[in-house]
Amino acid sequence: LHTLPRMRADVAVIGAGIAGLYTALQTSEYADVVLISKKGLDDSNTRWAQGGIAAVTAQSDSPALHRQDTLIAGAGLCSYNAVEVLVHEGPDRLHELIAYGTEFDRDEQGEYELTQEGAHSKRRILHANGDATGAEIVRALSKRVIEQPNIQVLEYHFAVDVITQDGECVGVLVRKPDGELFFLEAKATVLATGGAGQLYRYTTNPQIATADGIGIAYRAGARIKDVEFIQFHPTALYYPGAPRFLISEAVRGEGAILRNSNGDRFMDKYHPQKELAPRDIVARAIVSEMEQTKSTFVYLDITHESEDLIKRRFPTIYNFCLQYGLNMVTDWIPVAPACHYIMGGVQTDLNGETSTKRLFACGEASCTGVHGANRLASNSLSEAVVFGHRIAERIKQLADLPSIHPFQVGSKQKLPQAFNTREQRLKMQKLMLRHVSVKRDDKGLTKALAELARMEQYYQYEPESLETFEFFNLLNAAVLTTRAALLREESRGGHYRTDFPNKDDLVWRKHLIQSIEDGVQ
Ligand code: SIN
Repeated sequence: LHTLPRMRADVAVIGAGIAGLYTALQTSEYADVVLISKKGLDDSNTRWAQGGIAAVTAQSDSPALHRQDTLIAGAGLCSYNAVEVLVHEGPDRLHELIAYGTEFDRDEQGEYELTQEGAHSKRRILHANGDATGAEIVRALSKRVIEQPNIQVLEYHFAVDVITQDGECVGVLVRKPDGELFFLEAKATVLATGGAGQLYRYTTNPQIATADGIGIAYRAGARIKDVEFIQFHPTALYYPGAPRFLISEAVRGEGAILRNSNGDRFMDKYHPQKELAPRDIVARAIVSEMEQTKSTFVYLDITHESEDLIKRRFPTIYNFCLQYGLNMVTDWIPVAPACHYIMGGVQTDLNGETSTKRLFACGEASCTGVHGANRLASNSLSEAVVFGHRIAERIKQLADLPSIHPFQVGSKQKLPQAFNTREQRLKMQKLMLRHVSVKRDDKGLTKALAELARMEQYYQYEPESLETFEFFNLLNAAVLTTRAALLREESRGGHYRTDFPNKDDLVWRKHLIQSIEDGVQ
């Protein structure tokens, strides 16, 4: 046992995607902020966001329509109040992003260009540099963060856990790049740690998306909600030697069609909105076509559009595919679903506060209730800024921290020599892919849960590397997701059971909430 060195801030923000950068900027208007990023400021899931940010700006659109589209996609499990907040406050937050220096694409008249994605009834998605929206937002916000004197950025620092006292979060246990730990005392702590794509073997997310917020919050006793709902993006590149690179839904929004491996268009068999049906429906339709044609992919075809439109609207995707000899102008692009987004996360109220006082969650790490069982495309960037702003308003009102009792951190035994983090992570990712993926059933989920539970024996040991800390967070989230998926005996949004293929509103129009203290409720 040893006593730790200490540091102090008003606000600790963990994560450097849109949620972390924006919340840090907003709170820095009245507080001293420390922003902790486990990699560099340029490495986040947001950085890879393509499609754009959904908010009502057009005269022909309205918050009521945006609300309706969000609620329909969410398949009966959205929080109406959270969606109201999103659609009404989204436009103001969008203008703040612009004020912070984000440059969204405009047409020749200087009006913002709007694109369309699945399940939106209007064109309401702003984008930047064609298909590089996230990179532009990160560029603008991180420049502001660096310039802001009362934000201290700690890159390559890892938040191991939050420390609680009498049910309140009083700060963060931080691991420095050299492995030393210190305690960052803070009046408020914000988990803006992003998503959990690395739960799966195939994902559009970068390596860093390791469910850190879910792991940290769960261990601190906070409630985790809706984590059985995982969104598989229908169109990730599927090509030998290439990563599962995201092929934005906006490509379908601009007219691309899906063809099975025989070359036949198929989405009209599955949904009246065809290629622009909600994402869960398109992903399952693709898997069904792959099964029927005994293929591991389908094709995305935009060859009927002009070369000029393709290159101007999708420069990132066009150039990425070209590296592998695929020319979107002339070739059908082979694609398959891949894990993209986790709808659930750390449960929050409408001010972003979790069930543990002074602990907040923002962005993909959170479950504000906006997404329900299936997220509407491009609502995630808006959710991060809308609730990031509310978090900043709430933290402003928090009373000072009570005095912190001395505490100590125990050290555990070293991991056994035979333990190999990479092997364990791969084993978990394969289990999740095989049994907790687009289609699930009792047998597979039961098997996965038993094997994951066996892997949990390693929690008793001290992680020796960043990768092992990440793996433990992933394993926490994998168990929570699989347990909820096994319990939910129906199909809805991002959770589909082949043994319970229908939506069951009578029994299951409810949430599964998990915590250390109360188990599953
Ligand atoms: C995409 O560009 O297809 C992804 C957008 C999103 O996930 O919201």
